[in-house]
Parts: sequence; C-alpha cells; structure tokens
Amino acid sequence: MRIYMEKDYEAMSRRAAQVIAAEITHNPACVLGLATGSTPVGAYRYLADWYRQGQLSFKEVRSVNLDEYKGLAPDHDQSYRYFMQHNLFNHVDILPENTQVPDGLAPDPAGECARYDAYIRSLGYAHLQLLGLGRNGHIGFNEPGDSFVKETHVVDLTQSTIDANARFFASADDVPRQALTMGIGCIMAARRVLVVASGADKADAVYNTVCGPIVPGCPGSILQLHPDVVLVADEAALSKVTAAGVPVCG
Ligand code: GLP
Repeated sequence: MRIYMEKDYEAMSRRAAQVIAAEITHNPACVLGLATGSTPVGAYRYLADWYRQGQLSFKEVRSVNLDEYKGLAPDHDQSYRYFMQHNLFNHVDILPENTQVPDGLAPDPAGECARYDAYIRSLGYAHLQLLGLGRNGHIGFNEPGDSFVKETHVVDLTQSTIDANARFFASADDVPRQALTMGIGCIMAARRVLVVASGADKADAVYNTVCGPIVPGCPGSILQLHPDVVLVADEAALSKVTAAGVPVCG
C-alpha cells in the first residue's frame, strides 16, 4: 500500500483527483468504481474543474458506484444516484448510460444485486476503484461482521453508520436501515484501489485498515491483501499511522 499524506482536506482532494485523472488520461475508456460520502466531494470538484478547463474528458469512461440506500428513489436528495449527479455526472461529459448505481427501488433487491455483479463482471471489473472509509472501517456499505461478503448484497446498516450519516438527513429516524452494496469481491477485483480519508474522526479506521489485523471486523483491512492500493489522506486521518512509525510519502 502506498500512502500519501497531505496537509489538509483540500490538498488531499487535489491529490486524489490527480490519481483519478491520471487513470483517465492513461486509459480514456477506463471503468471507474466511484464512491459517495463527504470525503470524495472535493476530488469530484477538481475533476469537474479540469473537465471545464478542457484538460480531461469522461466521454468514454464507464462508472459503477459502490452502493445505494434501499428504498430511496434516484431523485431523493440523499440517494447516492442524486449525489453522483450533483457532485460529478452533471458537470462532466460522461454519458448517462455509462453510469451505474444500484437501484434502491428495485422490487427484487436480490435480483438487482445479481444483475449489478454480472454487469461489473461484464466490464472486466474496475480499473480504478475509489473508496472512502466509514468510521468503523466499512468500505462501500460492507459493515463490520463475522465474514467478508463477496457479492453485491443487501446489508443492514449498523447503528454507528446510521448515526454518522444522520447529519445528511432531517433526523436519524429518516436514515434508511438497509442498503445495496458492492461486495468485497468486486472491490478486490479492481486493478487499482484509491482510498481517501480526511479528519481526526477517521484516524482509527485508517490505522485499523493499514496496520490492523485482516479481519471482517474492519472491512477495510482486507485491502492489505490487494496488490495496488493508494491511500491519500490528510495529516489528521493519518495521525495514528504516522505515530506508529509507518513510512508515508508526501
Ligand atoms: C457512507 C458510504 C461510504 C463512505 C462512508 C464515509 O457510509 N457508503 O462509501 O465511505 O459513508 O463517508 P464520509 O466520507 O462522509 O465520512
């Protein structure tokens, strides 16, 4: 795992966007695995800026998102489809038909999960998978548990995730209790993984992901087995990793 430490959120966002832009420049028809949450917002802003300035095109890019809340419509302002439209897709030239987010309203969620897996498989998996980290070490919505779940699946969100994400809803009661998430199999099948993290409240999750035992209790820890992971984080998020003496770049 290569670890890049940046001073703050802004510098972290720019660095992460540069990695994504490099992937697109290197392979204009790449498959990008995309993530939601507040952490990647700054990186998406840089990518949109660079598109506007004519430095980058998403015309041939295909994207697959990690997850979606079960029960939220695409136009619900807290759905991940809405998030992607407003933070990235509406601002670049990606073709709508080339963007995929699990359907939170699918009448047959298990069928939707199987369809999603088959679609990603048909693309040959992501060239670059972007990941944020939950405070409990979750990736996508793969919550801590007794085993790593390989396939796209419906997951019960933990109370800590519901509480963490309540800030985006009117109240914690409004946060959906379930989500559809890409499984660990698709994430690990990506050729390269880019993890982004910012802030002191992610320091434990980052430490456990980088230095902890590889256990389903910290889903991010499985990334230690992936051959090509780039972690871009700010000083606060890396504080426990650097305190442990792990070498970082930047
Ligand atoms: C959600 C998403 C994750 C994301 C996490 C952290 O639970 N499903 O993909 O990484 O939130 O979000 P944030 O970046 O807002 O801390």
